[in-house]
Amino acid sequence: MATVLNDMKITPLSDALGAEVTGINAADLDEDTFARLRDAYHENIVLVVRDQHLTPAEQTAFARRFGEIQYHINKEYLMPGQPEVLILSTEIKDGKNVGVPDAGSDWHSDHSYVDQPTGYTLLHAIKVPKDGGDTEWTNMVAAYETLPDDMKTRLEGLVGIHSFNRLKNPRISVPVLHGHDEEYYKRSPPDSFHPLVRTHPHTGRKALYLSPRFTIGIKDLDEADAQALLDELFAHIRNRDLVYRHRWNVGDLLLWDNRTTIHLACLGVPEGQHRRMHRTTVLGEIPV
Ligand code: SIN
Repeated sequence: MATVLNDMKITPLSDALGAEVTGINAADLDEDTFARLRDAYHENIVLVVRDQHLTPAEQTAFARRFGEIQYHINKEYLMPGQPEVLILSTEIKDGKNVGVPDAGSDWHSDHSYVDQPTGYTLLHAIKVPKDGGDTEWTNMVAAYETLPDDMKTRLEGLVGIHSFNRLKNPRISVPVLHGHDEEYYKRSPPDSFHPLVRTHPHTGRKALYLSPRFTIGIKDLDEADAQALLDELFAHIRNRDLVYRHRWNVGDLLLWDNRTTIHLACLGVPEGQHRRMHRTTVLGEIPV
């Protein structure tokens, strides 16, 4: 059932998570509508805001309404003149990638490898391919709630170890793009430590907070036990009932709450077709 607020219409998208928002211009939102949108964001975890055509400056200004901008550690693809926007793109110009061509190719929550990870991510579709390029999100609140009680008890007080460094993660491979670039790995910040179950600062809901891309171990647990427990939890979150898959349209502005979801870029854009997205991230809080 859709909720209509002034011109804003919010309609649930799937059983897993997500809502579609129509009837707003994100570049020009009054305080009341913005507050309602933010509540819907926390509630639905992912918002698909349709028909937006924001300049990078407008996207940055909208992102700033949610908090402080978080800049990506890889400076190479920040937009010249608007470094709050990271360019994700399959386009090549003068033999060089225009943006990150393979961002998000393993399940993750943004910047969980730093002490104060991303709260909100905004991804704006500028160019979409006819085929491929979908994105998926998993509901980590439902993932937590559907764990058996004995597993919930076992997770109490456990802390995950998160790392940007792919070489430390046995579950993922090194993409060709960075395969031989040792400098890329030297940019990895020190590992960060976050509770495996975190509580949302606004809704009070508990969510699993771990991902195959960044969670490489569990603090103070024997390595074999830690990896076995992570395998069990990763198997649990593979349940497709928890997942929403998005097929992009030009003008879509996707907002996701990194405290309660992990996401995956499905890639698969055929040669000759192009996808370009503008991404802005907003600092969250230290997870508790
Ligand atoms: C990301 O992980 O931030 C990018 C997701 C996508 O491009 O689909």
